[in-house]
Amino acid sequence: MTLPTRPVEFVNPRAANEFKARTCSIRSVGSYLPEKVLTNEAITKLVDTSDEWITSRTGIKERRIAAEDEFTSDLAANAARDAMKKGGITAEEIDLIIVATITPDMLFPSTACLVQQIIGAKNAAAFDLEAACSGFVYALEIGQQFIMSQTYNTVLVIGAEKLSTIIDWEDRNTCVLFGDGAGAAILQNIPNSHGLLTATMGADGSKGELLCMPAGGSKIPASGDSLKNRLHYLRMDGKETFKNAVNAMCSAAREVLQRCQIDISQVDHIIPHQANQRIISAVGDRLKAKEEQLFINLDKYGNTSAASVAIALDEAATSGRLKRGDIILIVVFGAGLTWGAAVIEW
Ligand code: ACO
Repeated sequence: MTLPTRPVEFVNPRAANEFKARTCSIRSVGSYLPEKVLTNEAITKLVDTSDEWITSRTGIKERRIAAEDEFTSDLAANAARDAMKKGGITAEEIDLIIVATITPDMLFPSTACLVQQIIGAKNAAAFDLEAACSGFVYALEIGQQFIMSQTYNTVLVIGAEKLSTIIDWEDRNTCVLFGDGAGAAILQNIPNSHGLLTATMGADGSKGELLCMPAGGSKIPASGDSLKNRLHYLRMDGKETFKNAVNAMCSAAREVLQRCQIDISQVDHIIPHQANQRIISAVGDRLKAKEEQLFINLDKYGNTSAASVAIALDEAATSGRLKRGDIILIVVFGAGLTWGAAVIEW
Protein backbone atom coordinates (compact mmCIF):
# COMPACT_ATOMS: atom_id res chain seq x y z
CA MET A 1 0.00 0.00 0.00
CA THR A 2 1.37 3.46 -0.90
CA LEU A 3 0.61 6.11 1.66
CA PRO A 4 0.10 9.72 0.58
CA THR A 5 3.05 11.76 1.74
CA ARG A 6 2.86 15.14 3.39
CA PRO A 7 5.46 17.87 3.74
CA VAL A 8 8.11 16.59 6.11
CA GLU A 9 8.68 18.61 9.29
CA PHE A 10 12.17 18.01 10.54
CA VAL A 11 11.84 18.01 14.28
CA ASN A 12 14.28 16.17 16.50
CA PRO A 13 12.42 15.44 19.72
CA ARG A 14 15.66 14.92 21.63
CA ALA A 15 16.79 18.47 20.88
CA ALA A 16 14.77 20.44 23.40
CA ASN A 17 15.93 23.86 22.19
CA GLU A 18 14.24 23.30 18.86
CA PHE A 19 10.98 23.37 20.78
CA LYS A 20 10.33 27.08 20.87
CA ALA A 21 6.72 27.08 19.88
CA ARG A 22 3.52 25.98 21.51
CA THR A 23 3.31 22.26 22.23
CA CYS A 24 0.40 19.90 22.56
CA SER A 25 1.08 18.08 25.81
CA ILE A 26 -0.76 15.11 27.20
CA ARG A 27 -1.63 16.36 30.66
CA SER A 28 -3.07 13.05 31.81
CA VAL A 29 -4.59 9.80 30.62
CA GLY A 30 -7.29 7.54 32.03
CA SER A 31 -9.27 4.43 31.26
CA TYR A 32 -12.25 2.34 32.25
CA LEU A 33 -12.84 -1.37 31.76
CA PRO A 34 -16.19 -2.97 32.60
CA GLU A 35 -16.13 -5.48 35.44
CA LYS A 36 -17.45 -8.54 33.62
CA VAL A 37 -14.72 -10.79 32.24
CA LEU A 38 -15.54 -13.15 29.35
CA THR A 39 -12.87 -15.85 29.05
CA ASN A 40 -12.05 -17.93 25.99
CA GLU A 41 -13.39 -20.90 27.90
CA ALA A 42 -16.78 -19.17 28.29
CA ILE A 43 -16.88 -18.45 24.52
CA THR A 44 -16.51 -22.19 23.81
CA LYS A 45 -20.05 -22.50 25.25
CA LEU A 46 -21.36 -20.09 22.58
CA VAL A 47 -19.57 -21.18 19.38
CA ASP A 48 -17.44 -24.07 18.12
CA THR A 49 -13.98 -22.86 19.17
CA SER A 50 -11.29 -23.53 21.77
CA ASP A 51 -9.01 -21.60 24.10
CA GLU A 52 -6.08 -23.12 22.19
CA TRP A 53 -7.35 -21.82 18.79
CA ILE A 54 -8.10 -18.33 20.08
CA THR A 55 -4.81 -18.03 21.99
CA SER A 56 -2.60 -19.33 19.19
CA ARG A 57 -4.31 -17.33 16.41
CA THR A 58 -4.83 -14.06 18.30
CA GLY A 59 -3.07 -13.96 21.70
CA ILE A 60 -6.39 -13.07 23.36
CA LYS A 61 -7.26 -14.90 26.62
CA GLU A 62 -10.21 -12.83 27.85
CA ARG A 63 -12.11 -9.62 27.21
CA ARG A 64 -14.44 -7.30 29.17
CA ILE A 65 -18.16 -7.03 28.49
CA ALA A 66 -20.18 -3.98 29.59
CA ALA A 67 -23.32 -4.47 31.66
CA GLU A 68 -26.67 -4.25 29.89
CA ASP A 69 -27.37 -0.84 31.42
CA GLU A 70 -23.84 0.48 30.84
CA PHE A 71 -23.52 2.27 27.51
CA THR A 72 -20.62 3.64 25.46
CA SER A 73 -21.24 7.11 26.96
CA ASP A 74 -20.89 5.64 30.47
CA LEU A 75 -17.62 3.86 29.61
CA ALA A 76 -16.35 7.09 28.00
CA ALA A 77 -17.40 9.26 30.95
CA ASN A 78 -15.69 6.93 33.43
CA ALA A 79 -12.45 7.03 31.43
CA ALA A 80 -12.75 10.83 31.21
CA ARG A 81 -13.27 11.15 34.98
CA ASP A 82 -10.17 8.99 35.56
CA ALA A 83 -8.07 11.25 33.29
CA MET A 84 -9.53 14.41 34.88
CA LYS A 85 -8.73 13.13 38.37
CA LYS A 86 -5.16 12.19 37.44
CA GLY A 87 -4.62 15.55 35.70
CA GLY A 88 -6.35 17.69 38.33
CA ILE A 89 -8.74 19.08 35.70
CA THR A 90 -12.29 20.20 36.45
CA ALA A 91 -15.16 19.58 34.04
CA GLU A 92 -15.63 23.34 33.57
CA GLU A 93 -12.08 23.68 32.20
CA ILE A 94 -12.73 21.39 29.23
CA ASP A 95 -13.21 23.31 25.96
CA LEU A 96 -13.78 20.41 23.57
CA ILE A 97 -14.74 16.72 23.83
CA ILE A 98 -13.98 14.37 20.94
CA VAL A 99 -15.29 10.81 21.26
CA ALA A 100 -13.92 8.27 18.78
CA THR A 101 -16.34 5.35 18.53
CA ILE A 102 -18.12 2.98 16.13
CA THR A 103 -20.62 2.02 18.82
CA PRO A 104 -22.30 5.31 19.79
CA ASP A 105 -25.23 5.08 22.22
CA MET A 106 -27.40 6.11 19.25
CA LEU A 107 -26.79 7.72 15.85
CA PHE A 108 -27.61 11.11 17.33
CA PRO A 109 -27.18 12.98 19.55
CA SER A 110 -23.47 12.24 19.55
CA THR A 111 -21.92 10.23 22.36
CA ALA A 112 -19.64 13.23 22.99
CA CYS A 113 -22.72 15.33 23.83
CA LEU A 114 -23.95 12.61 26.19
CA VAL A 115 -20.52 12.54 27.87
CA GLN A 116 -20.56 16.34 28.17
CA GLN A 117 -23.81 16.08 30.11
CA ILE A 118 -22.68 13.14 32.30
CA ILE A 119 -19.42 14.76 33.42
CA GLY A 120 -20.87 18.30 33.56
CA ALA A 121 -18.46 19.86 31.04
CA LYS A 122 -20.89 22.68 30.33
CA ASN A 123 -18.33 24.90 28.55
CA ALA A 124 -17.26 22.24 26.06
CA ALA A 125 -18.12 21.79 22.41
CA ALA A 126 -18.57 18.10 21.61
CA PHE A 127 -18.56 15.79 18.61
CA ASP A 128 -18.01 12.16 17.65
CA LEU A 129 -15.41 10.88 15.25
CA GLU A 130 -15.71 7.63 13.34
CA ALA A 131 -12.46 6.03 12.20
CA ALA A 132 -12.97 2.60 13.79
CA CYS A 133 -9.82 1.25 15.48
CA SER A 134 -7.81 4.26 14.23
CA GLY A 135 -10.18 6.65 15.99
CA PHE A 136 -8.00 7.54 18.97
CA VAL A 137 -5.02 8.59 16.83
CA TYR A 138 -7.35 10.55 14.52
CA ALA A 139 -8.81 12.25 17.62
CA LEU A 140 -5.35 13.02 19.03
CA GLU A 141 -4.28 14.68 15.80
CA ILE A 142 -7.51 16.68 15.51
CA GLY A 143 -7.30 17.68 19.19
CA GLN A 144 -3.71 18.79 18.60
CA GLN A 145 -4.84 21.14 15.81
CA PHE A 146 -7.15 22.99 18.21
CA ILE A 147 -4.41 23.29 20.84
CA MET A 148 -1.73 24.45 18.39
CA SER A 149 -4.06 26.98 16.74
CA GLN A 150 -4.84 28.36 20.22
CA THR A 151 -8.55 27.83 19.60
CA TYR A 152 -8.87 25.79 22.79
CA ASN A 153 -6.79 25.31 25.94
CA THR A 154 -8.11 21.95 27.09
CA VAL A 155 -9.27 19.15 24.81
CA LEU A 156 -10.62 15.85 26.13
CA VAL A 157 -10.06 13.01 23.67
CA ILE A 158 -11.79 9.68 24.27
CA GLY A 159 -11.85 6.29 22.54
CA ALA A 160 -14.83 4.24 23.76
CA GLU A 161 -16.60 1.13 22.54
CA LYS A 162 -19.37 -1.23 23.54
CA LEU A 163 -18.52 -3.64 20.72
CA SER A 164 -20.38 -6.49 22.41
CA THR A 165 -23.61 -4.96 21.03
CA ILE A 166 -22.54 -5.25 17.36
CA ILE A 167 -20.83 -8.63 17.57
CA ASP A 168 -22.58 -11.66 16.12
CA TRP A 169 -22.27 -14.10 19.00
CA GLU A 170 -23.04 -16.93 16.55
CA ASP A 171 -20.04 -16.10 14.30
CA ARG A 172 -16.84 -17.71 15.57
CA ASN A 173 -14.77 -15.81 13.01
CA THR A 174 -15.40 -12.50 14.79
CA CYS A 175 -16.91 -12.98 18.26
CA VAL A 176 -13.66 -14.20 19.79
CA LEU A 177 -11.78 -11.02 18.86
CA PHE A 178 -13.49 -8.04 20.47
CA GLY A 179 -14.20 -6.48 23.85
CA ASP A 180 -15.62 -3.35 25.53
CA GLY A 181 -13.76 -0.48 27.21
CA ALA A 182 -12.70 3.17 27.07
CA GLY A 183 -9.56 5.30 27.32
CA ALA A 184 -9.09 9.06 27.50
CA ALA A 185 -6.42 11.75 27.27
CA ILE A 186 -6.46 15.43 28.19
CA LEU A 187 -4.54 17.67 25.79
CA GLN A 188 -3.23 21.09 26.78
CA ASN A 189 -0.46 23.51 25.91
CA ILE A 190 1.90 23.21 28.87
CA PRO A 191 4.85 25.60 28.38
CA ASN A 192 8.29 23.95 28.30
CA SER A 193 6.67 20.57 28.41
CA HIS A 194 6.70 17.55 26.17
CA GLY A 195 3.86 16.18 24.13
CA LEU A 196 2.53 15.00 20.84
CA LEU A 197 5.36 15.59 18.36
CA THR A 198 3.64 14.51 15.19
CA ALA A 199 0.83 12.30 13.95
CA THR A 200 -0.42 10.97 10.65
CA MET A 201 -3.81 9.71 9.49
CA GLY A 202 -4.68 7.76 6.35
CA ALA A 203 -7.62 6.05 4.67
CA ASP A 204 -8.51 3.79 1.73
CA GLY A 205 -12.27 3.74 1.15
CA SER A 206 -11.96 1.22 -1.69
CA LYS A 207 -11.46 -1.53 0.90
CA GLY A 208 -14.39 -0.62 3.13
CA GLU A 209 -16.12 -3.93 2.59
CA LEU A 210 -13.34 -5.86 4.38
CA LEU A 211 -14.69 -4.78 7.75
CA CYS A 212 -18.13 -3.25 8.10
CA MET A 213 -21.56 -3.30 9.70
CA PRO A 214 -23.91 -3.25 6.69
CA ALA A 215 -27.25 -2.21 8.27
CA GLY A 216 -28.52 0.51 10.57
CA GLY A 217 -27.54 3.47 8.40
CA SER A 218 -29.28 5.17 5.46
CA LYS A 219 -28.34 2.41 3.00
CA ILE A 220 -30.00 -0.46 4.85
CA PRO A 221 -32.25 0.95 7.56
CA ALA A 222 -33.53 -1.44 10.21
CA SER A 223 -36.18 -3.79 8.80
CA GLY A 224 -37.42 -7.31 9.33
CA ASP A 225 -35.13 -8.44 6.48
CA SER A 226 -32.04 -6.69 7.84
CA LEU A 227 -32.58 -8.36 11.20
CA LYS A 228 -33.25 -11.78 9.66
CA ASN A 229 -30.05 -11.52 7.60
CA ARG A 230 -28.03 -10.46 10.65
CA LEU A 231 -26.86 -7.29 8.90
CA HIS A 232 -26.66 -5.29 12.15
CA TYR A 233 -23.53 -7.14 13.16
CA LEU A 234 -19.87 -6.52 12.37
CA ARG A 235 -18.57 -8.50 9.37
CA MET A 236 -14.94 -9.06 8.54
CA ASP A 237 -12.67 -10.69 5.98
CA GLY A 238 -10.00 -11.65 8.53
CA LYS A 239 -7.20 -12.68 6.17
CA GLU A 240 -7.34 -9.55 3.97
CA THR A 241 -7.75 -7.32 7.01
CA PHE A 242 -4.66 -8.90 8.53
CA LYS A 243 -2.49 -8.24 5.44
CA ASN A 244 -3.66 -4.65 5.03
CA ALA A 245 -3.17 -3.99 8.74
CA VAL A 246 0.49 -5.02 8.71
CA ASN A 247 1.32 -2.98 5.59
CA ALA A 248 -0.50 0.17 6.66
CA MET A 249 0.80 0.13 10.24
CA CYS A 250 4.41 -0.23 9.07
CA SER A 251 4.09 2.59 6.51
CA ALA A 252 2.40 4.93 9.01
CA ALA A 253 5.03 4.19 11.67
CA ARG A 254 7.88 4.84 9.23
CA GLU A 255 6.28 8.10 8.12
CA VAL A 256 6.09 9.61 11.61
CA LEU A 257 9.54 8.36 12.61
CA GLN A 258 11.01 9.92 9.48
CA ARG A 259 9.27 13.22 10.20
CA CYS A 260 10.78 13.26 13.69
CA GLN A 261 14.13 12.04 12.38
CA ILE A 262 14.31 9.22 14.86
CA ASP A 263 15.24 5.62 14.37
CA ILE A 264 13.10 2.78 15.69
CA SER A 265 15.91 1.95 18.14
CA GLN A 266 15.38 5.37 19.79
CA VAL A 267 11.72 4.60 20.52
CA ASP A 268 11.23 3.55 24.14
CA HIS A 269 7.70 2.15 23.79
CA ILE A 270 5.63 1.07 20.81
CA ILE A 271 1.91 0.98 21.54
CA PRO A 272 0.25 -0.78 18.61
CA HIS A 273 -3.48 -1.28 18.09
CA GLN A 274 -4.32 -4.35 20.15
CA ALA A 275 -6.07 -6.46 17.50
CA ASN A 276 -4.00 -9.59 17.19
CA GLN A 277 -0.66 -10.70 18.65
CA ARG A 278 0.42 -11.98 15.23
CA ILE A 279 -0.26 -8.59 13.58
CA ILE A 280 1.74 -6.87 16.33
CA SER A 281 4.65 -9.32 15.94
CA ALA A 282 4.66 -8.94 12.15
CA VAL A 283 4.70 -5.12 12.47
CA GLY A 284 7.44 -5.30 15.13
CA ASP A 285 9.56 -7.60 12.94
CA ARG A 286 9.22 -5.43 9.84
CA LEU A 287 10.08 -2.27 11.77
CA LYS A 288 13.04 -4.11 13.31
CA ALA A 289 11.73 -3.37 16.80
CA LYS A 290 12.76 -5.37 19.83
CA GLU A 291 10.11 -7.38 21.65
CA GLU A 292 10.62 -5.38 24.84
CA GLN A 293 9.69 -2.15 23.02
CA LEU A 294 6.17 -3.45 22.29
CA PHE A 295 3.40 -2.81 24.81
CA ILE A 296 0.78 -5.57 24.70
CA ASN A 297 -2.36 -6.00 26.79
CA LEU A 298 -4.69 -7.64 24.28
CA ASP A 299 -4.54 -10.90 26.23
CA LYS A 300 -6.76 -9.22 28.87
CA TYR A 301 -9.06 -7.02 26.78
CA GLY A 302 -9.11 -8.25 23.16
CA ASN A 303 -9.66 -5.68 20.44
CA THR A 304 -11.50 -2.67 21.88
CA SER A 305 -11.29 -0.71 18.59
CA ALA A 306 -11.03 3.06 19.21
CA ALA A 307 -10.37 2.45 22.92
CA SER A 308 -7.49 0.03 22.35
CA VAL A 309 -4.39 2.25 22.29
CA ALA A 310 -5.94 4.72 24.75
CA ILE A 311 -6.39 1.97 27.34
CA ALA A 312 -2.87 0.71 26.62
CA LEU A 313 -1.37 4.19 27.01
CA ASP A 314 -3.08 4.61 30.37
CA GLU A 315 -2.01 1.17 31.52
CA ALA A 316 1.60 1.86 30.51
CA ALA A 317 1.53 5.22 32.34
CA THR A 318 -0.21 3.94 35.47
CA SER A 319 2.13 0.96 35.78
CA GLY A 320 5.12 3.35 35.89
CA ARG A 321 6.50 1.98 32.64
CA LEU A 322 6.55 5.43 30.99
CA LYS A 323 9.24 7.82 32.19
CA ARG A 324 9.38 11.56 31.47
CA GLY A 325 11.18 12.12 28.18
CA ASP A 326 10.44 8.63 26.84
CA ILE A 327 9.59 8.44 23.15
CA ILE A 328 6.35 6.58 22.43
CA LEU A 329 5.20 5.41 19.02
CA ILE A 330 1.46 4.70 18.71
CA VAL A 331 0.36 2.92 15.55
CA VAL A 332 -3.16 1.93 14.59
CA PHE A 333 -5.31 0.38 11.89
CA GLY A 334 -9.03 -0.07 11.45
CA ALA A 335 -12.15 -0.31 9.31
CA GLY A 336 -12.54 2.21 6.53
CA LEU A 337 -9.84 1.23 5.87
CA THR A 338 -8.08 3.72 8.12
CA TRP A 339 -4.68 3.91 9.75
CA GLY A 340 -2.56 6.29 11.73
CA ALA A 341 0.52 6.78 13.88
CA ALA A 342 1.72 9.29 16.45
CA VAL A 343 5.00 10.06 18.19
CA ILE A 344 4.78 11.34 21.74
CA GLU A 345 7.56 12.59 23.99
CA TRP A 346 6.25 11.71 27.46
N1 ACO B 1 -12.35 -21.11 16.43
C1 ACO B 1 -11.99 -22.16 15.69
N2 ACO B 1 -11.83 -22.11 14.36
C2 ACO B 1 -12.03 -20.92 13.75
C3 ACO B 1 -12.39 -19.77 14.48
C4 ACO B 1 -12.56 -19.89 15.87
N3 ACO B 1 -12.90 -18.85 16.63
N4 ACO B 1 -12.50 -18.74 13.62
C5 ACO B 1 -12.22 -19.21 12.39
N5 ACO B 1 -11.93 -20.53 12.48
C6 ACO B 1 -11.58 -21.46 11.42
C7 ACO B 1 -12.05 -20.98 10.08
O1 ACO B 1 -13.39 -21.35 9.87
C8 ACO B 1 -11.10 -21.72 9.16
O2 ACO B 1 -11.57 -23.02 9.00
P1 ACO B 1 -11.55 -23.70 7.55
O3 ACO B 1 -10.09 -23.73 7.15
O4 ACO B 1 -12.14 -25.03 7.80
O5 ACO B 1 -12.37 -22.80 6.69
C9 ACO B 1 -9.81 -21.80 9.98
O6 ACO B 1 -10.17 -21.54 11.34
C10 ACO B 1 -8.75 -20.84 9.59
O7 ACO B 1 -9.32 -19.56 9.46
P2 ACO B 1 -8.41 -18.39 8.97
O8 ACO B 1 -9.31 -17.26 8.66
O9 ACO B 1 -7.46 -18.87 7.95
O10 ACO B 1 -7.58 -18.05 10.29
P3 ACO B 1 -6.48 -16.97 10.41
O11 ACO B 1 -5.20 -17.63 10.72
O12 ACO B 1 -6.48 -15.96 9.30
O13 ACO B 1 -6.95 -16.18 11.71
C11 ACO B 1 -8.10 -14.18 12.36
C12 ACO B 1 -8.22 -15.54 11.73
C13 ACO B 1 -7.66 -14.35 13.80
C14 ACO B 1 -9.44 -13.47 12.33
C15 ACO B 1 -7.02 -13.35 11.59
O14 ACO B 1 -7.27 -13.41 10.23
C16 ACO B 1 -6.99 -11.92 12.03
O15 ACO B 1 -6.62 -11.60 13.14
N6 ACO B 1 -7.32 -10.97 11.12
C17 ACO B 1 -7.30 -9.56 11.45
C18 ACO B 1 -8.49 -9.25 12.25
C19 ACO B 1 -8.43 -7.87 12.84
O16 ACO B 1 -7.43 -7.44 13.33
N7 ACO B 1 -9.56 -7.20 12.78
C20 ACO B 1 -9.73 -5.96 13.43
C21 ACO B 1 -9.30 -4.82 12.58
S1 ACO B 1 -9.50 -3.36 13.44
C22 ACO B 1 -11.10 -2.70 13.40
O17 ACO B 1 -11.33 -1.71 12.79
C23 ACO B 1 -12.21 -3.35 14.17
